[in-house]
Amino acid sequence: MTLLEIKDLKVYFTIMRGKVQAVDGVSFAIDRGETLGLVGESGCGKTTTAFAITRLLPNNAEIVGGKITFDGIEIAGSDVENALPNRKKPKYVETMMRDVRWKQISMIFQSAMNAFNPVHRVGDQIAEAILAHEKMTKEQARKKVIELFKLVGLDVGRIDGFPHEYSGGMRQRAMIAMALACNPKFIIADEPTTALDVVMQDRVLAEIKSLQRRLGIAMMIITHDISVVAEVAEKIGIMYAGKLVEYGDITAVFERTSNPYSIGLMASFPSIEGEKKPLYSIPGSPPDLSNPPSGCRFHPRCRFAKDVCKEKEPEMLEVEPGHLSACHFAYEIFNGRLGAG
Ligand SMILES: Nc1ncnc2c1ncn2[C@@H]1O[C@H](COP(=O)(O)OP(=O)(O)O)[C@@H](O)[C@H]1O
Ligand code: SF4
Ligand SMILES: [Mg+2]
Repeated sequence: MTLLEIKDLKVYFTIMRGKVQAVDGVSFAIDRGETLGLVGESGCGKTTTAFAITRLLPNNAEIVGGKITFDGIEIAGSDVENALPNRKKPKYVETMMRDVRWKQISMIFQSAMNAFNPVHRVGDQIAEAILAHEKMTKEQARKKVIELFKLVGLDVGRIDGFPHEYSGGMRQRAMIAMALACNPKFIIADEPTTALDVVMQDRVLAEIKSLQRRLGIAMMIITHDISVVAEVAEKIGIMYAGKLVEYGDITAVFERTSNPYSIGLMASFPSIEGEKKPLYSIPGSPPDLSNPPSGCRFHPRCRFAKDVCKEKEPEMLEVEPGHLSACHFAYEIFNGRLGAG
């Protein structure tokens, strides 16, 4: 059953030079208990998508189109946007989201350091988050924090430590404990392991995955590292320049990759089986989204590009049930009939 549904979401930032089309027509859905990996190079709109779902977008961002529904509640869309005059909207959204944000959707950020207040003890901060949302006594909240520490593999003896007394890995675990504090239905993890060393990354990822499975929580994991997704997700969405370019079950997308950008992205990471392939990197870099390329936004970097790609934006084509690719030549690539030109 669908828990989160995003339809044709558009989020633009206003800057001096004009509008940045950070998310431009993105659609996907996540079922209860399911994990979606959202992947793509830096600057392609992953974090903006996450902030739109939690409605934590900065002031210069606006949801200019589309709809987000979570567990039957419209979080963004014309119902919300048209319900009230502009000046009352922020307050309305804030009230609506206060409960949704912690009890239903919680977020693990890129930098765990910034998630905690440096002058308060870690255990107290998690207890406070619980007390803000649940009817509990302080003692009950403390007990729950102890349980959470055990759950995420943190030493309970460190419960009264300050954030700076924790190592990077411990802080990341504490952040996961914080995210689990109010029994959410859905967790968004934005580059949850990027700041950690490789060994710690693997451990924390395994921990997140096992907790997510055990507790039946749905998850969206955001990363620029496609090998992370292969380990933890059932579904994958690949984003480029504000758009979703390929989407489907992890096996389908990995084994029958049908989009040139995804092919490039996969070739640029070592394979999960540890096969030593030479690392490839996609030439150039993602475009400035205040002035994106015409037609297919990937065309200046695409080795399959033809004339049509400069003129016409590709639609999402279903190459097999549930597996979509936004490329004019998606069927040919799927069927192995397109060589690099
Ligand atoms: N506060 C902001 N103001 C203006 N542009 C922004 C802001 N935050 C992000 N952007 C732009 O939005 C685009 C998407 O950024 P982001 O969602 O952070 O990408 P990702 O998480 O995939 O790295 C980028 O072009 C980025 O420069
Ligand atoms: S539409 Fe054209 S430019 Fe875009 S990914 Fe496909 S082949 Fe490349
Ligand atoms: Mg980001």
